[in-house]
Amino acid sequence: MRPPFYFKNNRLFCEDIDVTTFSETVPTPFYLYSKSEIEYNCQAVWQAAKQDSSVDFMPYYALKANYNPSILKLIKAQGFGADIVSGGELYFAEKTGFPADKTVFAGVGKTKEEIREAIQKGLHSINIESGEELKIVADIARKEQNTQRIAIRINPDIEAKTHAYISTGLHKNKFGISTEQAFELYIETQKYKNIIADGIHVHIGSQISLASPFKATGEYLKTFIQRLARKNIIIKFLDLGGGIGINYDDPLTNAQAPRTFIDTILPQYLASFSGLKLKLFVELGRSIIGSAGLLVSKVLIRKHTPLKQFMVVDGAINNLIRPSLYQAHHQIVPLEKGKYNSITADIVGPVCESGDFLAKNITIEDIPAGEKIAVGSAGAYGQALASNYNLRPTISEYLVNGTEVSTIFKGRTVADIANSYTW
Ligand SMILES: Cc1ncc(COP(=O)(O)O)c(C=O)c1O
Repeated sequence: MRPPFYFKNNRLFCEDIDVTTFSETVPTPFYLYSKSEIEYNCQAVWQAAKQDSSVDFMPYYALKANYNPSILKLIKAQGFGADIVSGGELYFAEKTGFPADKTVFAGVGKTKEEIREAIQKGLHSINIESGEELKIVADIARKEQNTQRIAIRINPDIEAKTHAYISTGLHKNKFGISTEQAFELYIETQKYKNIIADGIHVHIGSQISLASPFKATGEYLKTFIQRLARKNIIIKFLDLGGGIGINYDDPLTNAQAPRTFIDTILPQYLASFSGLKLKLFVELGRSIIGSAGLLVSKVLIRKHTPLKQFMVVDGAINNLIRPSLYQAHHQIVPLEKGKYNSITADIVGPVCESGDFLAKNITIEDIPAGEKIAVGSAGAYGQALASNYNLRPTISEYLVNGTEVSTIFKGRTVADIANSYTW
């Protein structure tokens, strides 16, 4: 399939839209998404699961990656369920049509109100992250005179080979519990009449590009499932988390490169459980929406110092915090190529922080003020992590469908922000 973003006559396109021409009609910065790429990634997930016809599979979309309702509706239409971590995400999932019994609720610190709502609505499962949480969920389920299915989140102490801030499956991380503790909890669940504990949850980290950490997790879980079975605790479903990585290196210029690692990782992860009578879930965020999004930003000023060259653009840390937060690399290109000589520059925003950068020491054409750049693979954990720091309002989002573009989030104004305050 044609990549969602590609250069034609040195101009960047999204599907059939010339991004430069479109960018002249709206304020910058903005996010632009490709509908066909979102659908393509969802279909790649189903395809990966079909490779083993015996697999009983259900994919969930992790709303945390991008919770724009128009995007949620597209993913829902591809047969995905919802993976939520807050009452807010539950509200968005429900409102965009995800059924309660296809919604799973994770998170290391849920409020009692959130747990009560999840139980009342009949969510498929609540992922339990501690002994204290199990007691709270059991207590609320009893008071609600309801039954709640749970999965205990295992922390397998497996190195995900990703950035430390997005590695979640090590004992030093706050997530999940060890199999030793979990074993005791599964036994404890037997005394709670309102709890069905027949699932295991695991999520070892994000932006993982190798199959090996997932295969190691698979082996680890299999051993644990057998250990539980010896105590007559029968596991029926595994929620295997998300974490599949995407191409951040050259998504805008390398049509041959795989845009996500769904095809290479997912079949191998699922194959770990081949032959076992288990329902397998995944909760994917980045690999569904990451490659489908672009951040477009305008050059405000160039600052050439004896030591460094800076390109100051109107997109900043409050629009895309990943480079600063995770030392993440995003490909950045001019919307129109081949017009200027290349320089080595830091691409920085206007925010008053030295940590406000989109890239450091990259080779890029020396674009003058007024012309625009595109930041690739920005669909996941971009707008979702946006803030209004320096009183910069949240920016607009647009969705491309072939030759059409629709506004899917109307950027906020300073007046919108001001309205929430007592003056
Ligand atoms: C529990 C859980 N599930 C799923 C995800 C989604 O991960 P990804 O976007 O890497 O697929 C995350 C991300 O942090 C998570 O914490």
